[in-house]
Amino acid sequence: MQIDVLGTGWNDEYTSVLMLPSDQKRVDTLWMSEAGVVDAFFFVGPGPKDVVMQYTSVTGTPAMPQLFAIAYHQCRWNYRDEEDVYNVDAKFDEHDIPYDVLWLDIDHTDGRKYFTWDRLLFPNPEEMQKKLAAKGRHMVAIVDPHIKRDESYFIHKEASQKGYYVKDATGKDFDGWCWSGSSSYLDVLNPEIRSWWAEKFSYENYIGSTPSLYIWNDMNEPSVFNGPEVSMPRDALHQDDVEHRDLHNAYGYYIHMATSDGLVKRGDGKDRPFVLSRAFFPGSQRYGAIWTGDNSAEWDHLRVSVPMVLTLGLTGISFSGADVGGFFGNSDTELLVRWYQVGAYYPFFRAHAHQDTRRREPWLFGERNTQLMRESIHTRYMFLPYFYTLFREANMTGVPVVRPLWMEFPDDEQTFSNDEAFMVGNSLLVQGIYTEKAKHVSVYLPGDQSWYDIRTGTAYGGGVIHKLEASEDSVPAFQRAGTIVPRKDRFRRSSTQMENDPYTLVIALNSSQAAEGWLYVDDGKSFEFLQGAYIHRHFTYSDGKLKSSNLASTGVRSKKFASECIVERIILLGFSPGPKKALIEPVNEKVDIEPGPLLLRGGWSSSVLTIRKPNVRIADDWTIKIL
Ligand code: GLC
Repeated sequence: MQIDVLGTGWNDEYTSVLMLPSDQKRVDTLWMSEAGVVDAFFFVGPGPKDVVMQYTSVTGTPAMPQLFAIAYHQCRWNYRDEEDVYNVDAKFDEHDIPYDVLWLDIDHTDGRKYFTWDRLLFPNPEEMQKKLAAKGRHMVAIVDPHIKRDESYFIHKEASQKGYYVKDATGKDFDGWCWSGSSSYLDVLNPEIRSWWAEKFSYENYIGSTPSLYIWNDMNEPSVFNGPEVSMPRDALHQDDVEHRDLHNAYGYYIHMATSDGLVKRGDGKDRPFVLSRAFFPGSQRYGAIWTGDNSAEWDHLRVSVPMVLTLGLTGISFSGADVGGFFGNSDTELLVRWYQVGAYYPFFRAHAHQDTRRREPWLFGERNTQLMRESIHTRYMFLPYFYTLFREANMTGVPVVRPLWMEFPDDEQTFSNDEAFMVGNSLLVQGIYTEKAKHVSVYLPGDQSWYDIRTGTAYGGGVIHKLEASEDSVPAFQRAGTIVPRKDRFRRSSTQMENDPYTLVIALNSSQAAEGWLYVDDGKSFEFLQGAYIHRHFTYSDGKLKSSNLASTGVRSKKFASECIVERIILLGFSPGPKKALIEPVNEKVDIEPGPLLLRGGWSSSVLTIRKPNVRIADDWTIKIL
C-alpha cells in the first residue's frame, strides 16, 4: 500500500490523506484538523492484533481494573436518598441477583456542587458506603468538571482565587451553563491544577467519602449547554494562552487522568482506581473505563452498541460499555431483557437510566423476566475469572477484551462485515438478538473448528451460517473448540464474596483432541501484581493429558500471591468415546468421569462429561490423565 499525505488543504484547516491500496483502488480519506500539526503514526501489523499492540505501545495499554469494576453495576439518575439505596441493595439480595456497585448521579450533591452531599437525602454517606462494603459492594459518585459559580462553594472559592479556571477570549473566567447552572471549568491542561484536583479526592478533602467510593467523570467534553456545539468556545484560553481549539479533544482525557491520579493517591495509595469517563482521547485507556454516552431504549441502539464497543477496543480503549436498557425512554421488557443478555458480555456492564424514565431494576417486570435478567448477570459472574484474565491480557498487550470476529479470524472474509456478533477473548463468540419477538437468529461461526453452545454443550460446525431458534432464555453464545475457559459457578452477593470460591474449567476439544487456555488471578485490588504478586496459569490439553503450568515470574525478588482456591469441576466437551476415569498427578488419585450439566442450573446432556472434585489447587502444577 502506498500512502500520500498531501499536506494541508487550501485554507490550512484540514489535512488531506490519500491512500492507495495495492490493488490500486483509490481510497480517499479526509482528516479534518481544527488546528496544529498532525502527528501520523502508521502501524503495519501484519495481523489485526499486531496493529493494536503497536498502537498501544505508543498510547499505553489499558489499566488493570479492580475485580469489582468488571462485575455488574447498577446505576440510575438518581438513586434518591439513603433509603432508596438501602432498598435497592436489599432487593438484589432478596432476588438472588449479584451486583458490585451502586451509583449516585448528580442529585446526591448539595445543589450540584460536586464533592458535597445533600445532607437531607444523604445524612450519613460514610455509614451507607460501609454498610454496602460489608457485603463486598462499592459505590460510585459523580464528579463533573464544571464548577458551580457559588461564592459559598469551597471548590469554586479556591479555584477562582488561585486563577485555576479556563478564561474566555477577554481574559475573564469562562462562565458557561451546565448541570450546576452558571459554571466555570478547571484548566486541567496545567499540571499544577491537575494535582490540586487530584488532592480533592483525599479522604480529608472529600468529606463523606470512604475507600469503597469510586468516581464518575461526566460532561467532560467539556459540555457547555449554551456554548457552540454544546461545548467551550474555541477561543477560550488555557495556560500560556493556548486556545481551547488546540486541546478540545484532550480536555476529558486530562480530567480523567487527574481524577484517576487522585484515587491512586488517597489513603495509603494501595488500591487501583476506578473512574468512568464519557470523553476520551488516545491514552484514556490508562485511566479507566469509558461508556458510550446517552443512548435510547431502542432496538437499534442495542444493535449499534456492539460495533461501538468493538471500535473503542480497536482504539486501545478496551474497558467500555453502553448503558444497559438505554438511557432515554422506557425500555419495553423484552428489549431490556435482551439488553442484559448482550450487556453481560460488554467489558463494562452497567445498567443506567434517565431521571424521567420509569424505574427498571431487574425485579420490576414479573418473576419470569427477573429470572432472565438474573441469569444474564449470573452468566457474567460465572465468567469473571475468564474476563479478569482477558483484562490482564489487555493490560499487558493492548489486545481488547471483546474483539470483532475478524480479529480472531483474519483470514475468513465472511467475518469482515459482521459486527452483530463478537468474540470475548479468543474463546467465546456471542451473537446478539436485536429484534423484537425474534423467532430465529442467524449465527455465523467462523473457522473450520466446531463451536459448543455454552448452555447445552451442543456442537456446531465452523465456517457455516446456522439458523437457530431464538430462545427467550439467552442470546446465542459458543465456546470455540480448542479452548479452555475458567469459570466460578457459585453465586454470591458480589464478586468480592467469590474470592475463595473454587473454579470450574471447561475444556472444548478441537479435532486434534487438543485445547488450551489461561487463568490470571491476583488480589483483585492492589498494585502488588506489578511486583509479581499474581498467579498466571497456562492450561493445555493434548495426548489425553490436561496440564497446568506456571507462567508467572518465579524470581526471588518478586512478591507472591497465595491462593488456596481449588478446581472443583472440569467439564469436557468433544470427548468421544466418553472416557470413564481420570488420574490426578502428582497425588496419583483416580476420579470418575460422568455425564453432567454444563451449567450448574442447566439440563444434562450425554455429550457433556464432568470430572467432579479433582480438587487440584489453581496455584499448583498438576496433570490430569484421561483414562
Ligand atoms: C449526562 C450523562 C448521563 C447522566 C446525566 C446526569 O447526560 O451522560 O449518564 O445520568 O448526565 O448526570
